[in-house]
Amino acid sequence: MFTGTIAPGLSLSPDALRLIDVPTPYLVTDLETVAARYEAFTAAMPGVATFYAMKCNPSPEILRTLADSGAGFEVASIGELRMLQAQGVDPAGVLYSNPVKPVGHIAAAAAAGLWRFAVDSPGELAKISEAAPGAAVYVRLRVDDTTSVFPLSQKFGTDVEDAYDLMLLADRMGLRPYGVTFHVGSQCESTSAWRSAIRAAGELMERLLADGITLEMLDLGGGFPARYLATEPSIEQIGAVIAGEIEVLPYRPALIAAEPGRHLVAESSVMAATIIGREMRGDEHWLFLEVGAYHGLIEPIQTPGGWDYPMWTSLADHTSAPRLRYTLTGPTCDSSDTIAYGVELPATLAVGDVVYFGSAGAYTLAYASSFNGFPPPTPLFVGGDR
Ligand SMILES: Cc1ncc(COP(=O)(O)O)c(C=O)c1O
Repeated sequence: MFTGTIAPGLSLSPDALRLIDVPTPYLVTDLETVAARYEAFTAAMPGVATFYAMKCNPSPEILRTLADSGAGFEVASIGELRMLQAQGVDPAGVLYSNPVKPVGHIAAAAAAGLWRFAVDSPGELAKISEAAPGAAVYVRLRVDDTTSVFPLSQKFGTDVEDAYDLMLLADRMGLRPYGVTFHVGSQCESTSAWRSAIRAAGELMERLLADGITLEMLDLGGGFPARYLATEPSIEQIGAVIAGEIEVLPYRPALIAAEPGRHLVAESSVMAATIIGREMRGDEHWLFLEVGAYHGLIEPIQTPGGWDYPMWTSLADHTSAPRLRYTLTGPTCDSSDTIAYGVELPATLAVGDVVYFGSAGAYTLAYASSFNGFPPPTPLFVGGDR
């Protein structure tokens, strides 16, 4: 871990980054920013319990920071649960929201004390009743995710009608029909997505009430946006819409949960990658970086319109220097690790200069591999005594 000279709270300004004398590539995270994002999220969502979606960035330092701040956790696998246990987190407080799970993971999670599992099909109910008899289940609704950058509803979720049948079936199978969840898609850009999703959850609650089933949990999922270059609705605006919709539910479930991932960690980190080659390809200027899609920057190739990390460089005259448009690519022999086209950066950039990517804390290192023998960025942490 980096134990250098950046003062806690100084955050990751270009001046602060110059003080880091660790070789690139690295991903440096300010843990004070993580803690502050958690505080701001909970302040904007009064009465909502936060379960960090750790898939987004499972660094032990981040898990510990959030656990110390009072956050709960959401996992996608037994592997993630084991990482939490290594940090002393009690599985009984953890949500397992991956709707399709290996049966062995269900059994191992239940043996560890985890008792709440997401479902969206009869097949999943069968696995849970076999591997974790009597467990609590919450059904994942398919909701409108068209205003998100990374939609999820094609893969997961069911409509209200089928969700109703699933909860009745769960009851008959001796499982506990516990709650309802949804995911509006990652980096959701409109407040109306939460409005319509909560209304669909309310419809399900109302129908089940007629059968004597009162749900104990409404889980708002993830999707809360982080700030990249575009302007997104603020967490306060989203919180206000959610609070208004909860007011008009048929009843208030005992637990209102949320599973933010990206929102809590994206803005806390900066990725630093040195330029290893500058070449012309036709009439295009290309920068070859130590980091491309396979080493942590895969989200740009998952989004057809590109992705808008704030970027700057190590040049002292970065802001005032004349600009050129560049194509940014990674270090491998694969052309699909190219991450950006037409990016305006200083014309004088050369091999050895560093490109910085802001808001790089979410879904970066978690995906990184050593493809072609290039190591993933080194994780560094600053902030507080963590
Ligand atoms: C079940 C579940 N919850 C929460 C999240 C976190 O989403 P986000 O990072 O957009 O907040 C995800 C992301 O894929 C997820 O699958």
